Amino acid sequence: MYETRVLSGMRPTGSLHLGHYHGVLKNWARLQTEYPCLFFVADWHALTTDYDAPGDVQKNCWDMVVDWLAAGIDPNQAILFIQSQIAEHAELHLLLSMMAPLGWLERVPTYKDQQEKLSHKDLSTYGFLGYPLLQAADILIYRARFVPVGEDQVPHVEFTREVARRFNHLYGKEPGFEDKAKAAVKKMGTKKARLLNELRTRFMEQGEAEALSRAQALLEGQQNLSRGDRERLYGWLEGGGKKILVEPEALLTEASKMPGLDGQKMSKSYGNTISLREDPESVAKKIRTMPTDPARVKRSDPGTPEKCPVWSLHLVYSDEAKKRWAHDGCTTAGIGCLECKQPVIDAINAELAPMRARAQVYLDDPTLVRNIVADGCEKAKRLAGETMRDVREAMGLSYS
Ligand code: TRP
Ligand code: SF4
Repeated sequence: MYETRVLSGMRPTGSLHLGHYHGVLKNWARLQTEYPCLFFVADWHALTTDYDAPGDVQKNCWDMVVDWLAAGIDPNQAILFIQSQIAEHAELHLLLSMMAPLGWLERVPTYKDQQEKLSHKDLSTYGFLGYPLLQAADILIYRARFVPVGEDQVPHVEFTREVARRFNHLYGKEPGFEDKAKAAVKKMGTKKARLLNELRTRFMEQGEAEALSRAQALLEGQQNLSRGDRERLYGWLEGGGKKILVEPEALLTEASKMPGLDGQKMSKSYGNTISLREDPESVAKKIRTMPTDPARVKRSDPGTPEKCPVWSLHLVYSDEAKKRWAHDGCTTAGIGCLECKQPVIDAINAELAPMRARAQVYLDDPTLVRNIVADGCEKAKRLAGETMRDVREAMGLSYS
């Protein structure tokens, strides 16, 4: 219907670590080569839980964008922007709030979960309740088809689908819809119009999904339709009204398997991270002081790699031969732990080297980052503006 856009956002948590890289950024970097992508900093979302400490948000935001760039997110392929710089997100959030049932928001699982988990924070605010609706606005305003997220965010994408459906149901039924749809079909020319009618009937009467996708493909290839007609026809094919907002799908990102320095998942709150800008000496030091199999007290004691967090890093970084070397060396006491750790240090440093180099360019000249984001904001604003025109019109708010 629209081009297959991918959109994702991250709250500005400051500088990122290897867990983010293996869990999220590598995935974004791949997606940007396959789809038009939009990646943004969800700074308003940060304020929903940290409204009392807004000071950190901006710095965290720039640090994070530098790390995205360092990790290979390419501003020539993806649009990078900051949520709060596109005021249209707030407008859509407000308009959606008119029709978003309170019960839907209260039932989003993260609402109660987070209130319990972050009990030291005041989360009994209007803004926090609206968190998923703001996220829905982020997604819907770009008519994104795919939203790469971790498992915890899937309910938010589901919620977004429901909001889109409700919106289209409420506002997609304009007066004279059927006639307008039929007039639009005629514009396709006799042959194609006949085929489209046939396919629609097959879908509506026989439920043939294939007929629907063929009909959609036919519309996709039709150059001479206005956007309004296109929205009408996509809705009309399925027996509904205009499809103004697009229902997105979550692209589930596998939970990061990146182990931290203590064997638990790498996470800032566990203090077990290696940052993307960690210098080589610091990487070496952190790995050298990592705990190992506690049963391997002396160099001559054989160890059990499965009980050692260093082994978990070998599983991420080493090839089969290296893994065999480490495993055999450990279980036979053939190698010492420092020896075992060295290839991990080398591999992490090799992975970080190009990231450090890229980050340095942006740290030396911060205007580069400002310009990339300004350019991304401009592009995002244009796309958001297109959707808002349709939304305002559908809700009876176009005063021109
Ligand atoms: N809520 C997301 C998170 O905490 C961040 C986010 C905000 C987001 N808006 C989004 C993610 C839109 C995907 C799409 O990770
Ligand atoms: Fe861990 Fe390697 Fe030491 Fe075995 S040899 S305990 S795997 S660091």
